[in-house]
Amino acid sequence: MGKLVICDHPLIQHKLTFIRDKATNTKDFRDLVSEVATLMAYEITRDVPLETIQIETPVCEMESYILSGRMIGLVPILRAGLGMVDGILQLIPSAKVGHIGLYRNEETLQPVEYYINLPTDAQERLLIVIDPMLATGGSANAAIEALKKRDCTHLKLMCLIAAPEGVKAVQDAHPDVDIFVASVDERLNENGYIVPGLGDAGDRLFGTK
Ligand code: URA
Repeated sequence: MGKLVICDHPLIQHKLTFIRDKATNTKDFRDLVSEVATLMAYEITRDVPLETIQIETPVCEMESYILSGRMIGLVPILRAGLGMVDGILQLIPSAKVGHIGLYRNEETLQPVEYYINLPTDAQERLLIVIDPMLATGGSANAAIEALKKRDCTHLKLMCLIAAPEGVKAVQDAHPDVDIFVASVDERLNENGYIVPGLGDAGDRLFGTK
C-alpha cells in the first residue's frame, strides 16, 4: 500500500488553521496555501537521491552533495491545484509543470478528462500530482490513471486536506503512489465537502462565489 505522510510540522499546522478560517480573505488564503505548499515540497522531496561532486571552497577541495536521479514535474489538477504550484517552484525551480483538467459527468458523476498537457520528458520525471482537496478521490484517481496511461509511472500525490474516503480510494486503486497531506479530516458531507475542511478551495483561491 502507498504511504500516507501527514506533514505535521508546526508551521504547516499553524498556517492551515488560517487557511481553514472562513474569515481569511482571498489574498491571505492564496499566500498561505502557497507557503504551505513550499513547506510540503520539503517533505515530499525528503527521499530524492543525492550524488557527490568535487568542488573547491575558498579553503580547500571537497566532495559535496547535489541532487541526482529523476528530475521533478508538477501536475496540478485544474483549477485548485494551481494554487500550490508557485509555492513548490520556490523550492524546486527546475521542475517542469504540466496540467490536467477534469470535469464531472453529471449523469455518471465520474470525472472526465478535458485537457492534458505534460512536459515532453514526463515519463522520465518524478511527477507530483497536486490536488488540494482529496475528497472522494475520484479526480486524483482519474489524473493518476491519465498519467499512467501515458507511461508516467513515478508518481506522488500532494494534497492540503484529505477525507479518509479519498485516502482509501487512492490507496486501493494506486498502491504505488505515496500521498502527502497536511491533514486528514473527519469525513465527507452529503454535498461532497470535506468536514471540517476549508470550503471550496478553487473558489477561495480565485475569489469566485
Ligand atoms: N473540493 C473542495 O474544494 N472542497 C471540498 O471540501 C471538497 C472538494
